[in-house]
Amino acid sequence: MPELARRFGTPTYVYSHAALTEQMAAFDAAFAKLDHLICYAVKANASMALLSLVAKAGWGFDAVSVGELAKVAKAGGPLNKTILSGVGKRDDEIAAGLAAGVLYLTVESADELEAISRLAKARHTVAAVSLRINPDVDAGTHPHITTGRAYNKFGMTFEHAAALLPAILADGYLRLVGLSCHIGSQILETTPFARMAKSMSEAARALLRRGAPLQYLSIGGGLGVRYVAERAPSPTDLARAVAGIVRQTGLTLVLEPGRAVVANAGMLLTRVVRRKSVAGREIVIVDAGMNDFVRPALYGAKHRIESVTSRPLRRRPVDYVGPVCESADTFLRTTSGPLLREGDLVAICGTGAYGTSMASNYNGRLRAAEVLCDGSKMTLVRTRESLADLWQGEHSTQGVAFDTAVPAQLGEIG
Ligand code: LLP
Repeated sequence: MPELARRFGTPTYVYSHAALTEQMAAFDAAFAKLDHLICYAVKANASMALLSLVAKAGWGFDAVSVGELAKVAKAGGPLNKTILSGVGKRDDEIAAGLAAGVLYLTVESADELEAISRLAKARHTVAAVSLRINPDVDAGTHPHITTGRAYNKFGMTFEHAAALLPAILADGYLRLVGLSCHIGSQILETTPFARMAKSMSEAARALLRRGAPLQYLSIGGGLGVRYVAERAPSPTDLARAVAGIVRQTGLTLVLEPGRAVVANAGMLLTRVVRRKSVAGREIVIVDAGMNDFVRPALYGAKHRIESVTSRPLRRRPVDYVGPVCESADTFLRTTSGPLLREGDLVAICGTGAYGTSMASNYNGRLRAAEVLCDGSKMTLVRTRESLADLWQGEHSTQGVAFDTAVPAQLGEIG
């Protein structure tokens, strides 16, 4: 770890090739006996190196924008095993999905269905679509990442989907190949999955009986992981909960896992910049911030923080915080954490999912480097941003681009 920090600097996202491939193999093994397709949810971590490893495993992808679709294509992902989903797909994104020959587009509303039909007609093609059902199942997770309750913005009721069927069957530019569902993320029980699989299977059977040419039944992603001490179900537990139910439909089960694949294959390596005492608490300020990893600030998420330094450390109430000008930029408040010193290295664990993919330049901060470790081999898979990246693509009020040179007044920096 110290060598990694020396070579690549901090903050740096560090991924384990072994952990990633093990987790993919666990999913493959868990569902081996069932006709299935795993479409990795790109939003969890869209680093090109990771996408190409996922493609190499033979998986498909779940993309939610033309941007993600483009990254999948660039990384060598199979577009015919890629789903284009998203609650607000623009016409140009739908057109791109049709041009790319994606496996299917998920449909979130009657209006979107109409747009897809119109765009397919303009391209003289037939659009494969899957209706996203909102089964009103409580996933028991954080309100920001619950998606399958009746009041959420996603999908449509089964009754609504059933009412759309005659129009779809009569439309020469649409082929209804699936039903999709995603009830939330970081789900720690298998019961909501089983409940959802049951109502989705019933819905699919009802539509099949009415002549829908369904091939796929997607249960989305959402499998939770152990961040601190949670008891998270494994891919095998998930398979036990849903496989029997879905098998009876005769449809191909589609899974869209993101977090469960990458969360614990990544950590954020960061260095202590400064230490201070405030109201009896020790504050350890690290060089990663909420712009690098926003989950604690956004969801109050807890992630383990481990000292990488070998020196014995005292433990006491410590707040580990970032340098961003917001009190929300706090990674962890502990009653007994290692008291670190300036220059010490720290790992924020379980940050492989929704870390770099949610990063920003807030506070003029450069996006972190990313390194993939395979045994003792360390490969830089994303270069740390440079200062010039902060004004790249910006123009003066006269429309003139700013050059990439670091302002001389800043001396040697950059
Ligand atoms: N499929 C659909 C339709 C989704 O909306 C999502 C995630 C997934 C699959 C993948 O879910 P996963 O297996 O990763 O739970 N930023 C939040 C998580 C947002 C999840 C959004 N949808 C977080 O950091 O907790």
